[in-house]
Amino acid sequence: MGVTQTSERTRERMGATANSAAGRGTHESAQERAMVPVFRPLIEEEEIAASRAALELGWLGMGSYVNEFEEGLREFFGAHDRYVAAVSTGHAALHLALMVAGVGRGDEVITPSFNNITDFQAILAVGAEPVFCDIEDATLCIDFDAAEKLVTRRTRAIIAMDYDCVLCDHARATEFARKHGLRVIHDAAHAFGSKYNGRAIGSFSDICMFSFDPVKTLTCIDGGALVVRTREELARIHEMRLAGMSQPASLMYQNQRAWTYDVARLGFRYHMANLHAAIGLAQLAKMKRISETRRAACRRYNAELGRIAGLRVPRTDLEGVTPFLYYVRVEGGRRDDFREFLRERGVDTGIHWQPGHWFTLLKNCRRGKLDVTERVGREIVSLPLHSAMEEASLERVIAAVREFFDG
Ligand SMILES: Cc1ncc(COP(=O)(O)O)c(C=O)c1O
Repeated sequence: MGVTQTSERTRERMGATANSAAGRGTHESAQERAMVPVFRPLIEEEEIAASRAALELGWLGMGSYVNEFEEGLREFFGAHDRYVAAVSTGHAALHLALMVAGVGRGDEVITPSFNNITDFQAILAVGAEPVFCDIEDATLCIDFDAAEKLVTRRTRAIIAMDYDCVLCDHARATEFARKHGLRVIHDAAHAFGSKYNGRAIGSFSDICMFSFDPVKTLTCIDGGALVVRTREELARIHEMRLAGMSQPASLMYQNQRAWTYDVARLGFRYHMANLHAAIGLAQLAKMKRISETRRAACRRYNAELGRIAGLRVPRTDLEGVTPFLYYVRVEGGRRDDFREFLRERGVDTGIHWQPGHWFTLLKNCRRGKLDVTERVGREIVSLPLHSAMEEASLERVIAAVREFFDG
């Protein structure tokens, strides 16, 4: 069956929300009726061909494609003095990052409360406690002045997370960690393909992690990656991602495995599979286009929506950034009305995120003042942003947003 036929069937199943380059432009009326989704993964001929090739290879687990993907990532970051390990999810990457950083029982990790749930779960998984820090109103990234007040003898690490299309102050993160003797876990799940002061995200942090989940800028369906500084850290990750087995990665990268090995330490089943890596490689080859399309869409949003009273847009020119999300802040307690209004006009929206300290599991975690987080948690909305954003979708979103505020 050809890709076009497959995509048409998929469209029918999903109410025409799935993307298809092959079908683009031929379904205008169906598309007009359908919702503009918040996310639309870019799955084209290349990803499907890569999947087919990986399946036909017949080695489904971790193998040659994973090695190629890791090398491709290292090249993409220009991180020639670093080591890249691909894993099953961003959550797995965070868990392993904390293990490698030596964070354990009784330790504390400072994290913005305005962060992904998997960061908090990873901290809990190593037996440590999240300590919730506020964010800066302008960037929505961690407020290092607030973080200063949260450091104790138990603090072992700080999570520096790039939110959406705005990057964290990484120079300050490095300085903060040096001053307090901490490790920095750089959560770059939103920042794949971005540059900080001219340096590729993934090329300079203490420990950096990425997510390639279904909606990310680059997707492997599910996947993650870690970038570390030393061979020793890489070896620990290789061991831990294979349930603690001392299987040489070099052997698995030849699509082979050893049947005898030792297990000396705790490990998890967190490796990446060939099929996922093959899709990742196909996506990696498109990053220039993906990056340009996303940046152009966000610039357009900023230009069209930037002067609406009651609506705040990210204050950035997006130079050097590959945006994963496009957020707005709806002031005056109207966020939920705004989302409903857009939904009625065929525009889907998201919420990234509910702050961590709002969750039952985490409500008793130590925290500083979280005034900005509280406000942002009630105002934040993600508007649709796709790697192949269509003009018609952009216009529809912009028109719906304007109509809400004009009304
Ligand atoms: C900032 C951030 N960190 C971590 C993750 C977790 O990644 P994954 O979904 O691949 O486990 C996500 C995923 O949405 C994220 O946005």
